Parts: sequence; structure tokens; C-alpha cells
Amino acid sequence: MILVTGGAGFIGSNFVLRWCAHTDEKVLNLDALTYAGNLANLQSLNGSEQYQFVQGNIGDASLLTRLFAEHHPRAVVHFAAESHVDRSIAGPEAFVETNVVGTFRLLEAARSYWNKLEGAAKTAFRFLHVSTDEVYGTLGVSDPAFTEITAYAPNSPYSASKAASDHLVRSYFHTYGMPVLTTNCSNNYGPFHFPEKLIPLMIVNALAGKALPVYGDGQQIRDWLYVEDHCSGIRRVLEAGVCGQTYNIGGWNEKTNIDIVHTLCSLLDEMAPAAQRGVINQQSGKPVLQYAELITYVTDRPGHDRRYAIDARKIERELGWKPTETFETGIRKTVEWYLNNQQWVAGVIDGSYRDWVAKQYETGKQ
Ligand code: NAD
Ligand code: TYD
Repeated sequence: MILVTGGAGFIGSNFVLRWCAHTDEKVLNLDALTYAGNLANLQSLNGSEQYQFVQGNIGDASLLTRLFAEHHPRAVVHFAAESHVDRSIAGPEAFVETNVVGTFRLLEAARSYWNKLEGAAKTAFRFLHVSTDEVYGTLGVSDPAFTEITAYAPNSPYSASKAASDHLVRSYFHTYGMPVLTTNCSNNYGPFHFPEKLIPLMIVNALAGKALPVYGDGQQIRDWLYVEDHCSGIRRVLEAGVCGQTYNIGGWNEKTNIDIVHTLCSLLDEMAPAAQRGVINQQSGKPVLQYAELITYVTDRPGHDRRYAIDARKIERELGWKPTETFETGIRKTVEWYLNNQQWVAGVIDGSYRDWVAKQYETGKQ
């Protein structure tokens, strides 16, 4: 079986769902259920023999020791993190606690467990650390994309805490010989994305007639990857990656933020016309005719990185991985998903998704 941390979050839950669809191997999901953890994402696995959930913190050393001893995972796939740059600016401490100290505790528990393994089990064990392209800092418009040897230059408390965790993971390979792998991925989008991040926030706000807040001039560039492609990249690295190596994962889809917002507005105009839905502009009180009317430029994010771009040639060359979605197919699927899952969105907005924990424990299911 494998141990996944942060499996109730955006990418983690997509990963767990895809894992269960692709293999029969069991998965144990350890998640603290912070505001970003949502067990409704994994509702389709309720009652499955293959999947088990434990609510807990990756910083809890005794819990980790017990879970390793009881479940004997052959691998750890580590997603758990505080992940939102704006929150890291408002309150960086949780980022240091989870991303740095939490990763350290998880590494220590994994090392102690791995040390006691013998023979084939010891050789086969893997610790896969899921990280971000943001550790590399920011690029100028004509700079080459980030490769695995680009020097780290994190600019936000979020990226600095992820960079610190990447360094710890690296050191466990070089110092202890632990079989670790690191992936650095570009911005993800797709189902179950918490609506504090750009793409889901814009969809949810547009449908509610709220302002679409574009930071600064909107010309910042991100490199977008459909979440299922990220998950397939992680599975491939887990299966065939060389220990101690890092792999950049990306979709070769650089877009400015303002282009993304316009694309979303056009898709919504086509798939959920504002006039038909009776959407009212919450600022002016007038009916919305086209969603782009709602675009509002707001004060820029402090220290805002201008451009990220991933050079994903290494994972393609060495492991034969390539994304399957284009941006056009992936973004259309994403808008469709949000339109078809308004109940999920409503549960997140009104906070009722948090009742899931209580319900799960009431019925004795974990
Ligand atoms: P998310 O914020 O949606 O989910 C994080 C999950 O971790 C939540 O379920 C939360 O409850 C859990 N968690 C937080 N602190 C915890 C703790 N102390 N102990 C146990 N669980 C805890 O994040 P995401 O967008 O799914 O990102 C997952 C990972 O992928 C992160 O490590 C992030 O840095 C990395 N990543 C994200 C992106 C992206 O575009 N979202 C891109 C590249 C890499
Ligand atoms: P975000 O989804 O927060 O991801 P990250 O900061 O990790 O790249 O933001 C993506 C881009 O969109 C980033 O340049 C900031 C910008 N942005 C806005 O312009 N408005 C918003 O309301 C949000 C949430 C982000």
C-alpha cells in the first residue's frame, strides 16, 4: 500500500481518485483537514476496501510512527502543505509549521521505518515529495524556462517554505541514502480546486455576478497543467524515477492571467450565458450581459512573481511522460465540472463541507 499525505486537498484528492481507478493497490490518506481539505472530494470512495482515511497532522511524530508500523507502506507520496501564496503573505507561520517542520517530521518517521526494512522491501521503498516550480523564483519574458538545475530563488513565504522542504528531502538522499524523489510542477487546474485560487475563483465569482479581481496589470504569466496530467506524472516518477533526482512537470502552456480570465469569461458566455441565468452584477445591481464586464483590476500582490515556465523535457526524455490534455481541452472540462458540481461549490462557500468530518465519524466510516 501507499501512504498519501494531503489527499483531501485539490491535487491529493485527484491523485487518490486516479490511483484507485488505475490500480488495485491500497492507499492510506493522512490529512489534517485544514480549510483546504475536503472529504467530499473523495465521496465516491466511501465504502471502498482500497481506500482508508486518517485525520491527522504530518507534524505529529507519534501518529506517523504508528501509521508506518501498522500499515507498512511501500511508498509515501507527500502532498500535504499550506499552498496559497496570498495566505502565506498574510500569515507565514503555518507555512513554516506544515511545509518545513511537517515535512521534516514525515522524513524522520519515514527514515526510521525505512531503516528497519530489509531486502527487497528496503530497496523498493520510495518517498516522493510533491513540490512546485515557484521555488525557482521569477523569470523575465524572454528567459529560458526552469530546468531541474535552475538555482532556487523563492520570493514568497510559500515558495520559501517549499524550497526549504525540497532541500531537506534532497539532504535525506545525500546524507542517509534514503530513496527520495522530488517533483516540481507548474500551476495546476481542474476539478476540486479550492475557489481561492485564480481559475476556480473566477468561475465561481462570475456565476455569482461578483467582481473578477485581477492583480496589478494582469500580465503575469503562469504555466498551466491539467491536474490529471500532474497525477499521471507523479505516478510515472514513482514507478520509474531515479532516486535522488528531481523532475519538473509541466504542460508547456504559458498564459497571462488576463488571458486566462478572458478565456473563462468566453467559455461561461457560451456554456452558461449570464442573461439566461439571470446573473446580476453585485456592484452595479444591473443584469450581466457578458461575464467580462465583471473584470476588475485590483492592487497587485506584494512580491508578485512575473513569470513561471517549466521545461519538462527531462521527464519526457527519461521517463517517457507527456501531458495528454491541451489547455483548450482541459480548461473546457474544468468549466464544465464547476457548472455540473454547483453543490460542491456551494458546500465550500457556505462552509458545510467541513461537516463531512463529523458525518464520517458518526457513521463509523473513516
Ligand atoms: P491544497 O491546499 O488544496 O491541499 C493541501 C492538503 O493538505 C489539504 O487537504 C490539507 O488539509 C492538507 N494539510 C495541510 N496541512 C496539513 C498538515 N499539517 N498535516 C496533514 N495534512 C495537511 O493544496 P494542493 O493545491 O492540492 O497542493 C498539493 C501539493 O502540491 C502541495 O505540496 C503544493 O505545494 C504542491 N503543488 C501545488 C500546485 C498547484 O497548482 N496547486 C502546483 C505545484 C505543486
Ligand atoms: P494563484 O492561483 O493564487 O496561484 P500562484 O500564485 O501560486 O501562481 O494565482 C495565479 C495567478 O493569478 C497569480 O499571478 C496571481 C493571480 N491572481 C489574480 O490576479 N487574482 C486573484 O484573485 C488570484 C487568486 C490570483
